[in-house]
Amino acid sequence: MTPLLRVRGVTKTFGGVAANVDISFDVAPGEILGLIGPNGAGKTSLFNSISGEVSPDQGDIVLDGQTISGRGPVACARAGVARTFQVVRSFDSMTVLENVMVGAFSRGAGTREAMRSAQDVLAFAGLAGRADAPAHQLTPPEKRRLEIARALATQPRILLLDEMLTGLTPTEAAGGVALVRAVRDQGVTVVMVEHVMEVVLPLVDRVVVLNLGRVLMQGSPAEVVRHPDVIRAYLGDKYAA
Ligand SMILES: Nc1ncnc2c1ncn2[C@@H]1O[C@H](COP(=O)(O)OP(=O)(O)O)[C@@H](O)[C@H]1O
Ligand SMILES: [Mg+2]
Repeated sequence: MTPLLRVRGVTKTFGGVAANVDISFDVAPGEILGLIGPNGAGKTSLFNSISGEVSPDQGDIVLDGQTISGRGPVACARAGVARTFQVVRSFDSMTVLENVMVGAFSRGAGTREAMRSAQDVLAFAGLAGRADAPAHQLTPPEKRRLEIARALATQPRILLLDEMLTGLTPTEAAGGVALVRAVRDQGVTVVMVEHVMEVVLPLVDRVVVLNLGRVLMQGSPAEVVRHPDVIRAYLGDKYAA
């Protein structure tokens, strides 16, 4: 199958720090891909290149045959990339509905259409009852849902989730997992950075492991947890058996 997203030889250095080094992998349409690795491995930097916030020094990122790397966040969003941020970014003084309308406006919707589609997306994300609340009143798990709702309102083809489940209780995380599955079932391809392996591995179709800015390995969840280098670099001894 033709990949939806191709990452080819992406390298990005900040000062002397090599955040990403020659990273290559594909994401198939409809896939949920897990991107894992220790802190500082380069996961968020890679998301920044895919969503256009930064330009790679070398390499290409191609979405459905169109090169999107180096073209900036607006062009990447228009091509169909949406993301959430590790540190939640909501417009605190605006209502939940207005926050999501921002996503709809970014694809050129008029006010009435933006409001209607924002209401639909909020219902999908389980936030319909909070539409009129100021965003700052949301609980932490609700704020994560708001980020996803705003991203979905741009009608993306691929959604990048950066540590969406970090800090949530197991019950809240289970709700997040169900939402990710529902997003994929709507036809949106998902790449998710997560640390909680018990949550990630049952959810994802494939895993790419980053370490020190490079791809350490990629494969199925079962292949990844068996791999000695992954256990050494990241998972630790509890997976060694
Ligand atoms: N804008 C930046 N300026 C300077 N260094 C950066 C910047 N973004 C990332 N880095 C560095 O790149 C490396 C990878 O960071 P990051 O992509 O945030 O890792 P991860 O998300 O896997 O924890 C780190 O050493 C980080 O300090
Ligand atoms: Mg990060």
